[in-house]
Amino acid sequence: FQTRCLDGIKLTITAGPTREAIDPVRYISNHSSGKMGYALAEAAADAGAQVTLISGPCNLSAPERVNCVNVVSAEDMLTASLNHLGEIFIACAAVADYRPVAAADQKIKKSQASMSIELVRNPDIVSTVASHAQRPFTVGFAAETQDVLHYAKDKLQRKNLDMIIANDVSNSEIGFNADQNAVTAIWPKGETSLPQASKTQLARQLIALIAEQYINKGAS
Ligand code: PMT
Repeated sequence: FQTRCLDGIKLTITAGPTREAIDPVRYISNHSSGKMGYALAEAAADAGAQVTLISGPCNLSAPERVNCVNVVSAEDMLTASLNHLGEIFIACAAVADYRPVAAADQKIKKSQASMSIELVRNPDIVSTVASHAQRPFTVGFAAETQDVLHYAKDKLQRKNLDMIIANDVSNSEIGFNADQNAVTAIWPKGETSLPQASKTQLARQLIALIAEQYINKGAS
């Protein structure tokens, strides 16, 4: 791990889940704990970066020396992301792809009838950042349960990213809410697999790799 490889670089990370309100007491969400994103924020701060961590609801304390911005929904996360663009953006959050078309003002009462909730697409945060006029070096994650590398490479292209971190979340030892992870980092001209390790160790390896690719891109 190269010390201070990101000295003074402004870096933004999204982490954790988003919550999409159904009514004042219910929401749609997912199993992201924030552990991977928070570990990346800590590793980036250790590497000298000025880190903003945009976090969905998590039971974790913000790492020291990190500016933490708490958000709830995907729309809030997008606004916060655009307000805190730096030189590198890492999208580790598990953003809900859909939200209820409107959140009810009052608690929805049950009845004998079945019910359905109409959903609309949420904005894609990492794609919006990658097409911004002040585009940072943009890194996404791909959480997949099958054909992991194939879908990750598709997302790298489709979302116009500089790098994607493919995460096989069909294995409960790695991925959502686990303490460990194993990933393959893919960029336009290469890829490397990082074997199973704690999220803390893996985050340090990923930050070193991201720093290397960021510096290479600037030099080319
Ligand atoms: O939080 P943990 O419990 O530690 O778990 C870590 C993790 C499994 C959440 C993490 O390693 C991970 O894989 N994060 C990405 C989760 C995800 O939602 O992936 P996706 O394949 O659905 O999305 C692809 C990329 O687009 C991601 O960078 C995501 O942040 C981004 N995205 C997705 C939808 C959306 N509306 N906006 C986005 O920016």
